[in-house]
Amino acid sequence: QQANLQDRFGRKIDYLRVSVTDKCDLRCSYCMPKGFRGFEEPENWLTFAEIERVVAAFGRLGVRRVRLTGGEPLLRRDLPRLVGALASHLELEDISLSTNATQLEKHAQALFDAGVRRINVSLDSLDRACVQKITGSDNLEQVMRGLRLAKEIGMRPIKLNMVVMRGVNDHEVSRMTAFCMREGFILRFIEAMPMGSTGQASAYCDLGPIREQLVREFDLIPVAKELGGGPARYWQARNGEGTIGFISPISQHFCASCNRVRLAVDGTLYMCLGQEAAFPLRPYLRQGVTDQALEQLLLQAIELKPERHEFNSKPHQVVRFMSQTGG
Ligand code: GTP
Ligand code: 5AD
Ligand code: SF4
Repeated sequence: QQANLQDRFGRKIDYLRVSVTDKCDLRCSYCMPKGFRGFEEPENWLTFAEIERVVAAFGRLGVRRVRLTGGEPLLRRDLPRLVGALASHLELEDISLSTNATQLEKHAQALFDAGVRRINVSLDSLDRACVQKITGSDNLEQVMRGLRLAKEIGMRPIKLNMVVMRGVNDHEVSRMTAFCMREGFILRFIEAMPMGSTGQASAYCDLGPIREQLVREFDLIPVAKELGGGPARYWQARNGEGTIGFISPISQHFCASCNRVRLAVDGTLYMCLGQEAAFPLRPYLRQGVTDQALEQLLLQAIELKPERHEFNSKPHQVVRFMSQTGG
């Protein structure tokens, strides 16, 4: 018990991201193109019981945080039931959710009651038409209602993820910063990664200059302590109100401190967002693998984890879409 999961590069793996569906009600330009086909057949989705088994095995090997992702995780029926089941594993310190929030208003209370405290919400713009252009749907009002409710019922922290795209929403970084500071949301800017054939390389926007601009404009200072379990680097206002993170996988990759692997909805374990290394767990789960053998498989899988992504080695492009891996 309490073993530490370590990869070949000495990195401790204590954060599992679980994609509960590859479906989404939106079509964000950097994630899933319009008309995308190739969703997983329902019989290939891991069941809640199977997910719980994998999470429990990871828990025995030292994983302490689980984040539910998708696709859009709230499209998976009965998600709070899964959260409740996972929350009963005492070794887990943290169950969080990454969502587009279009259905958050409907599910926030049940999720909170089941044990979700931390949520990360994708919001790339505060302009209704721009949201529509990026996501393919007119959903800003719904998202705002979901955010308001989540805040009201006490989810903390609430983080907003903004993928910054040149010529699309990069003119909104100041406005978004001011909005999040006012509302008490932690804002993270993200560099788009070339996943699948979304053609996002053209919209790539280096966050370095944007950070410099915002540091001047809002008089920000770097945050010393770690926030959350992820790759963001944080700055904050001098009065302590308002925290801004930068996730720069391309211009300043953070692979040396990578602590995570991803379980896709079909039971494939992906070792890295920007590499193809993967290990299929579903066949074993459906052939009655024992708990002990499952742990051995996870140890074997972690051996495959690559040192870093290869997004920068052009013309490298990961062929699977973000929605298939889980964000
Ligand atoms: P917390 O810090 O625990 O809140 O989580 P997080 O920032 O890891 O979660 P979130 O789902 O909000 O991730 C935000 C985005 O950061 C992801 O969608 C990716 O774009 C990026 N990201 C997260 N983890 C990785 C990673 O391991 N590698 C790369 N390249 N990008 C990542
Ligand atoms: N590059 C970077 N971030 C992405 N996300 C989805 N696709 C990409 C991509 N290609 C982010 C979304 C969401 C998070 C879970 O993943 O902003 O907030
Ligand atoms: Fe980890 Fe791969 Fe992300 Fe780098 S790109 S932080 S190695 S998952």
